Amino acid sequence: MKQYSKRMVIVHWLTLALLIAAWFLGDSLADATDDSKATLAGYITHIAAGAAILLLTVTRLLFRSQDGTPPAMGLTAMDKVARGIHHALYTALFVLPVSGVLTLATSDAGKALLAGDANLLPKKDGYEHVFAHGMHEQLVTVLIVLVAVHLLGAIKHQFITKDDLMSRMLLRRKA
Ligand code: HEM
Ligand code: HEM
Repeated sequence: MKQYSKRMVIVHWLTLALLIAAWFLGDSLADATDDSKATLAGYITHIAAGAAILLLTVTRLLFRSQDGTPPAMGLTAMDKVARGIHHALYTALFVLPVSGVLTLATSDAGKALLAGDANLLPKKDGYEHVFAHGMHEQLVTVLIVLVAVHLLGAIKHQFITKDDLMSRMLLRRKA
């Protein structure tokens, strides 16, 4: 096997797109909360993007166990770091949405959504003592740093090592 299976490639790039959406929606939600103007629709769209990422990550791990992965590019320390980053990315893609669910479960946001009443949603400083919310925020930063390092690695392979690593994560099949 020289490349990731087609379905692994599709899920990889779909996850990137959903991550950008969830990040943007989450940030807008936090701004709205700071202005005490958050809406149920704002919560629902952010939760939908986040939940899709969680579902996709579980599906992806199933595909991975069935389809396998191309062999490691090499055995250097950098190759081992790259693999460590991949595992950390999978962990973050799972734990981050779970911390979002915990934020709902341990704050007034969950009650507001269940009651369908936007007046019950947390207002400015409403998440101050919600531990899971702090965790959710920190994990967003962790994930962004991991993705940045991962992206730098891909750029290094593409433009410095020029070893065609990118083609392993593209739909076009190599002969
Ligand atoms: C990988 C998926 C996700 C990403 C990238 C993400 C990202 C974010 C971001 C950037 C914020 C704003 C943090 C802040 O500065 O206060 C946020 C807030 C929040 N997220 Fe997520 N999130 C994800 C998944 C979820 C899920 C699945 C849920 C719930 C089921 C959820 C529930 C929340 C809640 C309740 C808030 C607080 C809103 C507020 O501060 O007003 N998130 N998220
Ligand atoms: C930002 C643009 C991105 C580029 C250019 C990129 C590129 C790549 C490439 C070329 C590979 C194959 C590496 C190899 O064969 O050893 C890969 C694998 C991987 N990427 Fe990305 N990626 C990006 C974004 C992301 C994002 C946002 C995530 C998740 C948050 C992610 C998670 C992964 C994981 C977990 C693997 C390992 C797959 C496995 O072995 O199961 N990538 N990426």
